Amino acid sequence: MRKIYILFFIPLLFCFSQKTKSAEPVKSGFDFASRQLKVALTGIEAAKKTTAANKVMPRTLNKDGGIQMVSIGDWISGFFPGELWYMYEYTHDESWKIQAEKFTEKLESLQFFTGDHDIGFRMYCSYGNGYRLTGNEKYKEILLQSAKSLVKRYNPQTGLIRSWDSNKDKWQYPVIIDNMMNLELLFWASKVSGDPSYYNVAVSHADKTIENHFRENGSSYHVVDYDTITGKVRSKCTAQGYADESAWARGQAWGAYGYTLCYRETKNPDYLKKAEEIISFIFSNPHLPKDLIPYWDYDAPGIPDEPHDVSAATITASALYELALYNPNKAKQYRKWADTILESLSKNYRATAGGDGGFILLHSTGHKLANSEVDVPIVYADYYYLEALLRKQQLSGKR
Ligand code: GLY
Repeated sequence: MRKIYILFFIPLLFCFSQKTKSAEPVKSGFDFASRQLKVALTGIEAAKKTTAANKVMPRTLNKDGGIQMVSIGDWISGFFPGELWYMYEYTHDESWKIQAEKFTEKLESLQFFTGDHDIGFRMYCSYGNGYRLTGNEKYKEILLQSAKSLVKRYNPQTGLIRSWDSNKDKWQYPVIIDNMMNLELLFWASKVSGDPSYYNVAVSHADKTIENHFRENGSSYHVVDYDTITGKVRSKCTAQGYADESAWARGQAWGAYGYTLCYRETKNPDYLKKAEEIISFIFSNPHLPKDLIPYWDYDAPGIPDEPHDVSAATITASALYELALYNPNKAKQYRKWADTILESLSKNYRATAGGDGGFILLHSTGHKLANSEVDVPIVYADYYYLEALLRKQQLSGKR
C-alpha cells in the first residue's frame, strides 16, 4: 500500500515542481514590475511639476536620475500605456486598468498623425492592447483611423511604407527594418474592417523587405532607401548601427519579431523562414554573450567592452515564445533561449528595487553613435519584457 502511495505521488510532485518552476520567473517578474511601475507612476507625477505640460510619457532616466518625459509625438509613447495594460492582463486588478486607460487616452489625437511610420508602435501597443482586453468600441474606431493614417505613407511605386521624412538631402524614401513592427496594426485593421487593402499593404511591405533588406548571412541592413520614381533601391546603410554593413542588435530583433507576426497573420512560409533565419543569425553569432543579452551591435568593434542592449534581448525573447508555436521541431530550443534571456535579465539586469525611476530593466542602448541613451533603462525594453513574461505564462498554461 505504502509503495503504491509513493509511486502515485512521485510523478505528481515532479509535475507540480515543473509547473512551479516555469511559473516562477513570471510571478517574480510581474511582482517586481508591479513595485517598479508604482514608483514610476509617483515619479511621473513629480516630474510633471518640472517639465513642459506636453511631456506626458516616460522614456528613460536622465543623467541626474530623474525620469525623462517626452511628448506623445515621440515614437515610444505607446509603450508605457502598453506596460500598464500588461499589468492589468496579468493581475486583473482594476487599478492597473484605470491607469492604462488614463495613459492610453492621452494618445487619442495621434490617430490622424501621418508624420512617420511609428503610428503602429504608438497605437497598437496602447489602444491595441486596450481594445484586446476591454473590447472598448471607441478604441476600435481610433485604431482603425490610425491604420488609415499609416497606409497614407504607402507608395505603390515602391510597394513599401515610408519610414521617415527626415534627411531629405540623403534619402528619397527611407525604409527601416523597425517598420516591420507597424504591420501588426494593418493586419488587425483588415480583420476588423473586412477591408483587404490594409492586409495587401502589409504583405507588399513584408515581401519587398525580404527582397532588399537582408544579407546572405541572415542579418539585415537598418535603412534601405528607394527611388520614388523607379521604385528601385538607391542605397543600403545604417542610422543607429555601428556601420552600414554591421548588424545592429535591435534591428535584428525587430526583424525576427516582425516576420514572426507576419507568419501568424498570413501563414506564408517565406515569413516563417525569414524569422528563423534571423534567429539563427542571432544565436549562432560568436559575439552573442553566454547570457544571451547582446551588445548593441553584433559587429561593435570593442566587444566585450561595449554596452549591451537589453531591449534587443526582450524583443527577441517575446518573438521566440511565439515562434516556438510555429515550428514543433525547434520549439524546445526557442523556448530555452527565451527562458535563458528572462533568467539572465532577472538575475543581472534588473533596476534597483524602488529606484531607477521605476524602470524595470537596466542596460539598454538607444543610439550609441550619437552617444544618446547608452547603457540606460528604456521604456520599450520593459514593455517587451512584460510581453515575453505573459507569452511564457500562456505557453506553460499556468501562472
Ligand atoms: N525604432 C527605433 C529604435 O528602435 O530605436
